[in-house]
Amino acid sequence: MRAPQPTPGLSKGDSFAELGQQLHGLVQGERDALPNCANMAALLFHALPDLNWCGFYFMRGGELVLGPFQGKAACVRIGIGKGVCGTAAQRRETLVVPDVHAFPGHIACDAASRSEIVVPMIQAGRLLGVLDIDSPIPERFDREDARGLEALVGILLSESGFDGLAI
Ligand code: SME
Repeated sequence: MRAPQPTPGLSKGDSFAELGQQLHGLVQGERDALPNCANMAALLFHALPDLNWCGFYFMRGGELVLGPFQGKAACVRIGIGKGVCGTAAQRRETLVVPDVHAFPGHIACDAASRSEIVVPMIQAGRLLGVLDIDSPIPERFDREDARGLEALVGILLSESGFDGLAI
């Protein structure tokens, strides 16, 4: 399979729309969330500029457990309410963190990370996990990224079954 390439020069909104089409193409017809998350992490890591980590944590046994990702090796388990990921999971809302050093309890997996965005994955009221993206650039993410990534997570969730992954 040839990996989709981003079109240069698009606005952020148009880039996310294009990414949505590419993601849909990657996951449609495959219900298993594991390969779908792996391909989504790879797609985003290579399409979005200035990232050093992009991946998933799944809810397993009452905590977040590391799933498919791109970037350096990361911490495996994160408690609900801990770090940016655990806080986004607890609040069930997207967190945009402009400066990770100013976020109380931030968990530093890669010392290069300076800003972060975490999008919870919620299906029929059930918290399945989070999408976590880190950047070495401060203030890399804004509300437009939040909206765009929430829409991409929506595509992933509509095409994938998480039974057995999120338990
Ligand atoms: N920084 C995250 C931990 C996960 S790594 O960034 C991959 C946090 O504070 O939850």
